[in-house]
Amino acid sequence: MKLLLYSFIILNILINSSLSHSHYPITKDSALQVAKGKILYDQNCASCHMSNLSGAKNWKGYDEDGHRLAPPLNGTGHTWHHSDSDLHKIIKLGFAKLIKNYEGKMIGFGDILNDSEIDSILAYKKSYWSEEKYNIQLNISVVNN
Ligand code: HEC
Repeated sequence: MKLLLYSFIILNILINSSLSHSHYPITKDSALQVAKGKILYDQNCASCHMSNLSGAKNWKGYDEDGHRLAPPLNGTGHTWHHSDSDLHKIIKLGFAKLIKNYEGKMIGFGDILNDSEIDSILAYKKSYWSEEKYNIQLNISVVNN
C-alpha cells in the first residue's frame, strides 16, 4: 500500500512536470545504442543497481542510513510500468528534483549524461526485459509521451 501511494505520488509529479522529449518510444532495435548504453550503465549505475541490473540485494528493504535500496531495472521490479518519458526524467533529474524533501540515493545524472546517453541506457535496460513487458511498456510510452 505504501509502495502504491509512493508510485502514485511520483507519477503525478512526473505527469505535471513540464519537460518534454520527442524521441519516444525507445526501442532495443539498435545494437549500437544498446552497446553504448551498457558502457554508460556500467560506469554510472551498476554500483547501486548491480551490473546485471538485478538491483540491490533485498532491495525492498532499506540501507543502513534508512534510505531505500536500488530496485532492479531488469524487468522484475516495476520500472517497466513507467513510460520512457518518465524514466528519462527520473534518470536526468533524480528523485531529488522530482520529490519535495527527498532524502534518498537516486540523484539526477543530468550534469553527467546528455539526453541521448540517457536514452541509450534505457535501450540497454529494455534489452533485459521479457518481450511481453517490453511491448506493454512501449505502448505505455506512446500513450504517455
Ligand atoms: C547511489 C546509488 C544509485 C545510483 C548510482 C543510481 N541509482 Fe537509480 N536508484 C537508486 C535508488 C536507491 C532508487 C530508489 C529510489 C528511492 O526509492 O528512493 C533508484 C531508482 C531508480 C529508478 C526508478 C526505478 C523504478 O522502478 O521506479 C530508475 C529508472 C533508476 N534508478 C535508474 C538509474 C540509472 C539509469 C542510473 C545510472 C545512470 C542510476 N539509477 C544510478 C540508487 C542509485
